[in-house]
Amino acid sequence: MTPFEMSKLHLLSGSLTRPWSESEYKNLLATDTIRFFYVENAFLVGRLVGSDAEILNVIVHPKYRRLGKARYLIVKFEAEAKSVGASRCFLEVAESNNSANTLYNDLGYFKIGQRKNYYEFVDGRKDNASILAKEI
Ligand SMILES: CC(C)(COP(=O)(O)OP(=O)(O)OC[C@H]1O[C@@H](n2cnc3c(N)ncnc32)[C@H](O)[C@@H]1OP(=O)(O)O)[C@@H](O)C(=O)NCCC(=O)NCCS
Repeated sequence: MTPFEMSKLHLLSGSLTRPWSESEYKNLLATDTIRFFYVENAFLVGRLVGSDAEILNVIVHPKYRRLGKARYLIVKFEAEAKSVGASRCFLEVAESNNSANTLYNDLGYFKIGQRKNYYEFVDGRKDNASILAKEI
């Protein structure tokens, strides 16, 4: 999957925040600490720094959801993180993002903090971010 395809999928995903551009994905993927996993119509971008792993984004094409793609990618990323010595995985998710919150709960993530009005959606609304974590 190319940075262009990633930005296209991000745009199609119905993201409430500004979709990342092709050049943003290109720069991200060129960064040492970044790991990228994909399957057809879905991808995950994460970061590995010492004992900490962080999921930066997981995106599945709207037509191919509830097929276990996000779960598969997250499990792959956690395994890679663990294999290089990470012991915790973090992420931020909008409080109103019910599908993502259910997904992460299901995978054993729990809330460790909140960032008030962290997200500014393209329609001008704001939302808090939950900071989630999991021991891996
Ligand atoms: C959130 C998202 C990544 C989930 O991808 P997905 O491939 O459909 O998720 P999975 O099929 O792996 O779902 C695994 C579990 O998560 C939960 N889940 C996922 N989507 C859900 C939904 N819409 N409603 C309720 N539970 C949901 C369920 O527990 C599901 O297990 P089940 O299908 O056996 O019941 C996808 O909806 C998406 O791309 N959303 C837009 C981008 C986004 O918000 N990304 C997260 C950024 S933090």
